[in-house]
Amino acid sequence: MAQAQTVKTFYTDGHKRRRVMTTIRDYMGFFDESDGGGVEARKAQYARMINHYYDVVTDFYEHGWGESFHFASRARGESFDASLARAEHYLALRLGLAPGMRVLDVGCGIGGPMRSIARFSGATIEGVNNNDYQLEKVRSHNENAGLSELCSAFKADFMKLPVPDASYDAAYAIEAICHAPDKAAAFREIRRVLKPGARFACYEWCLTDAYDADDPEHRRIKSEIETGDGLPDIASIPETVEALRGAGFEVLDSFDAAERSDPETPWYLPLRGELTGLSTLRRGRLGRHLARRTIGILEAFGIAPKGSKEVSLMLGRAAEGLIAGGETGIFTPSFFFVAERR
Ligand SMILES: C[S@@+](CC[C@H](N)C(=O)[O-])C[C@H]1O[C@@H](n2cnc3c(N)ncnc32)[C@H](O)[C@@H]1O
Repeated sequence: MAQAQTVKTFYTDGHKRRRVMTTIRDYMGFFDESDGGGVEARKAQYARMINHYYDVVTDFYEHGWGESFHFASRARGESFDASLARAEHYLALRLGLAPGMRVLDVGCGIGGPMRSIARFSGATIEGVNNNDYQLEKVRSHNENAGLSELCSAFKADFMKLPVPDASYDAAYAIEAICHAPDKAAAFREIRRVLKPGARFACYEWCLTDAYDADDPEHRRIKSEIETGDGLPDIASIPETVEALRGAGFEVLDSFDAAERSDPETPWYLPLRGELTGLSTLRRGRLGRHLARRTIGILEAFGIAPKGSKEVSLMLGRAAEGLIAGGETGIFTPSFFFVAERR
């Protein structure tokens, strides 16, 4: 019944309801090379592509994953929710966050990490996001959590922040810079708004050393992840570090946090499925199958907007791409680094 509840609340705004089908079709066009799609089209029109993506997937993400839209390494016996919170708190610790600090959350989603980090550190967090639908959710969740004093969000493209130089004491990005059309340019913009000596920490989606561009199966998995997750082109770990250094950061530490998972609980386990309760069922293969069936029926009866089933099919393919990326070891969602603005 949780599925029906989500679909009932899914795009309750009539305007958006009508637009689900056209939005998902337009989005998929960015990945269809026979129809003008491809990496260059995605980079040239990244804002439109990414906003289309988050317009249609945000409710699915929130229903399946919760308020934090990222992965995390998991220790033995640790719950999924505890692992997400630990990843967020670790980042706050490495940034040295404390009350009175002004911090930028780059690509803040619906604000799950922001609220968790503000509660943990007492720092003041400002999120930047380019997606109106998510920003509405950030504001209402912040208010409901009683955190409006410490947490806020503004609409902007993180490639061109409407913020004066040297405004922030620290910045972080969780699984968001992967959407940038040019990573070095994104890092330069983050550096610009940081005070000299301030730190920037990040979890980033990257190809690992195991990725072989000459292997058609590796290329297929990469492309499936890009299509299912609104990405122009996934970069490798060395490319990411080079972009960071080129932008004027000193890298203090970096490692693939995904490798720190217990082998029994890899980061992609929730997508594959584990049966420890309703919420875990929802995230896995069985849950996605049930959701697709339910959404198909609700769409046929006009309860869910047209295009909803297409969105859930796309997210299913995304999940399979991520699982394959994890199982082959060619992809990590959690390349962690902490850097200092020179
Ligand atoms: C995978 S979500 C991660 C959200 C959040 N960091 C979290 O962990 O819950 C990526 C976020 O980056 C935002 N984003 C992507 N490109 C952006 C851009 N150019 N400017 C601002 N926000 C952007 C998306 O709207 C989305 O909120």
